[in-house]
Amino acid sequence: MTRIFSGIKPTGHLTLGNYLGAVRRWVKTDQHRADALFCVVDLHALTEDHDLARVRRLSRQAASLLLAAGLDPTVCTVFVQSHVDEHTRLAYVLECTATDGEMRRMIQYREKEAQERARGRSVRLSLLTYPVLMAADILAYGTDEVPVGDDQAQHVELTRDLAVRFNQRYGHTFTVPRAVHPEVGARVMNLQEPGSKMGKSDDAGPGIVYLLDEPDVIRKKVMRAVTDSGREVEYDRGARPGVANLLDILAGCTGEEPSVLAEGYDSYGALKKDTAEAVVEALRPLRQRHAELCTDLGYVDGVLRAGAERARGLARPTVDAAYRAIGLLPAG
Ligand code: TYM
Repeated sequence: MTRIFSGIKPTGHLTLGNYLGAVRRWVKTDQHRADALFCVVDLHALTEDHDLARVRRLSRQAASLLLAAGLDPTVCTVFVQSHVDEHTRLAYVLECTATDGEMRRMIQYREKEAQERARGRSVRLSLLTYPVLMAADILAYGTDEVPVGDDQAQHVELTRDLAVRFNQRYGHTFTVPRAVHPEVGARVMNLQEPGSKMGKSDDAGPGIVYLLDEPDVIRKKVMRAVTDSGREVEYDRGARPGVANLLDILAGCTGEEPSVLAEGYDSYGALKKDTAEAVVEALRPLRQRHAELCTDLGYVDGVLRAGAERARGLARPTVDAAYRAIGLLPAG
């Protein structure tokens, strides 16, 4: 059976980008068609200056939101990364497979490193090695497919390179995974800056729709989205990024084609209005279920406990095999 692994980082409140780029497809298709594991990758939240209580709170919130969005723990595995030691155990071995140059070429590292320096902060070593931990997340489970948004493509590519290199040097140990992206919504842009990705760690802004935003807040953010000069509603990501982003969001929420949707509009106002309502409706059940789950945290913690136990059992043999393959003496 196909094995799927994907993760989400608790560095901020989850956004519409996370939903349309990843979570929506995990819920609708991935969990039903494969043996799927979905992980709140909390160790990754420590790579930048962090608030201890906030990381803890956001980790539980991310898990609750995944369940609220429709991940069903009876058909898939939901867990927290730091509850399963195999991730960091494997990351070290993969650090001995990756090169320093390879790490420094990662786009997200270069962008975040520049941001940290601009703010006068030192850069944590873990920010540089982050993609290796991500590779360990994926390879520990013999993963075939990694459903992610576009921004993670380079990291999955690195994961493939590391798996192939390790297998060539030390004998076949890892399945070589591939990234899969949704047809629409693989890169949702900030509503105020259609040239930049809608990112959850960005400073809270009017251009980011959070999954737990109130309907009126969502309406306001979408109605104020920056559009392009001109009038015509056409789907052209290069020439009209603002309008194309709205069409992508509307398509992501309704399951239709952005270019077909474009034909039905002759004004930006009408497009914004329909997009806002589609987002509100898509997120309504999620918000309701999340409110219910907040009153039953024992349930959420139980799901995470069982998930970690299953994940540990799956990862252990692969990580042990990697330790043996690279020349370490097995524990007696
Ligand atoms: P993270 O937490 O930034 O994002 C989680 C998922 O949401 C997608 N995504 C988006 N998709 C479309 N448009 C956007 N604006 C947008 N913003 C985020 C991401 O592509 C991702 O699929 N490094 C990963 C977490 C990770 C991981 C893993 C993922 C750690 N280990 C192993 C897969 C497998 C990250 O920072 O995702």
